[in-house]
Amino acid sequence: MEIMAIILAAGKGTRMKSTTHKVLHPVCGKPMIGHILDQLEEVNVQRLVTVVGHEADKVKEYVGERSEFVVQEQLLGTGHAVKQVEPLLGQQTGLTIVVNSDMPLLTAASIQSMLHHHVCCHAAATVLTAIVDDPTGYGRIVRDHNGNVEKIVEQKDCTPSETEIKEINTGIFCFDNEKLFAALKELKNNNKQNEYYLTDVMEIMRNRGESIQAFTLQNKNEAQGVNDRVQLAEVERLMRKGIITKHMVNGVTIIDPSSVYIDQDVVIGQDTLLYPNTYLYGASVIGEGCTIGPNTEIKDSVIGKHVEIKQSTIAGANIGNDTVVGPFAYIRPGTELASKAQVGRFVEVKNTYIGEGSKLPHLSYVGDAQIGKGVNIGCGVITANYDGVNKHRTTIEDEAFIGSNSNLIAPIHIGKGAYVVAGSTCTKDVKEEEMAIARARQTNKEGYAKKYKKRASVKKEK
Ligand code: UD1
Ligand code: CA
Repeated sequence: MEIMAIILAAGKGTRMKSTTHKVLHPVCGKPMIGHILDQLEEVNVQRLVTVVGHEADKVKEYVGERSEFVVQEQLLGTGHAVKQVEPLLGQQTGLTIVVNSDMPLLTAASIQSMLHHHVCCHAAATVLTAIVDDPTGYGRIVRDHNGNVEKIVEQKDCTPSETEIKEINTGIFCFDNEKLFAALKELKNNNKQNEYYLTDVMEIMRNRGESIQAFTLQNKNEAQGVNDRVQLAEVERLMRKGIITKHMVNGVTIIDPSSVYIDQDVVIGQDTLLYPNTYLYGASVIGEGCTIGPNTEIKDSVIGKHVEIKQSTIAGANIGNDTVVGPFAYIRPGTELASKAQVGRFVEVKNTYIGEGSKLPHLSYVGDAQIGKGVNIGCGVITANYDGVNKHRTTIEDEAFIGSNSNLIAPIHIGKGAYVVAGSTCTKDVKEEEMAIARARQTNKEGYAKKYKKRASVKKEK
């Protein structure tokens, strides 16, 4: 049977008080609607339509090829939103899942269970429900004396006794597609908000003698919708806890789970150890047996095996096996470290390849450079890559030695095994095995220190 899905994402999200569309607010590094898309893709939905309205272009841009779209020009309610999909799905037969786009904790497993229940009961509609302690703001599931679902009543339309009901509408449904579009034709907006409520479809179907079902979530956290930033933080907390637990179960040691933040798609190898205040963001992949942190931020980077990273920031980089980074290194996009390389204390590296076993142990800036194998970059070395207009490259061949506090004025090429003596300012290429000395020669003047001090103290007395 064909399975289709409709994501409702036209709403304004007024309660977020934001210039960013609600569904584009990230939870654990990914926009809310991205989480929903991931789960629907896992369910193998064959056709997916997203209803957009407010800030439609931005939502479309993020969702891209993953969905078809319809525009809801006027936001007249969730039922009205689903109705806009009629030109695309109205003639189809099969099952249609409808999801709100503001429930990032919903899992594919729960959607599957709801589908299973729906099919087993030969239902026309199944609503996913949850039993919660505080149902404020949610639609209530009203059941008859036999326990069968009668209707869903929005908070604003509840009688005092309906307000007491703790079983709520999560906003997730499964429908027989043809019966859904037939029922939508009968929707009215005679309610407190003058909206066309999707939830009223349940009562319409029941009045037609159809079977309408409720399937209750086992984990009520999945029902947590995000309408404001307090709920956004709550959802973030719950998802983060789940991510951290997953990694620990998979063999990652996390010394203080409360101070570690990991985005949803980050991959971490077994026996890696995360110290407190570690932040792993975006599409980062961390290998096995690494030690990371404390106070470390890694974004969109690939870290090999057995890497040690302390108190450092890394973004858009590829860090090879058995390397050592930090403390206090700043590795910027486009940087690649081959195995056994070392980027140490107070070193900034940008858009640079560092060959196997090469070392930048302390206090350097290296940008737009290509560094071979076994190179030693002394303390305080700077690649002067920017002339105020253009960026220029520095190339340092294998086994070269760059003495402390040298400036390499790019573009420049330092040959294999060459030696740049400490304190040089090199403006010319250095050939293989050459030694470059680019500093003023020192002169020592006998007795001058004593004379100088005497003169200075006479001046002071005056
Ligand atoms: C809705 C449900 C409520 C449920 C709750 C779960 C209705 C009438 N109410 O209420 O029973 O408990 O979700 O979180 O369905 N949207 C559109 N077009 C519109 C209006 C809304 O696309 O014209 C979208 C929104 O972008 C959002 C979703 O529909 O993704 C739900 O809208 P929202 O305003 O958040 O509904 P709730 O009041 O939370
Ligand atoms: Ca909502």
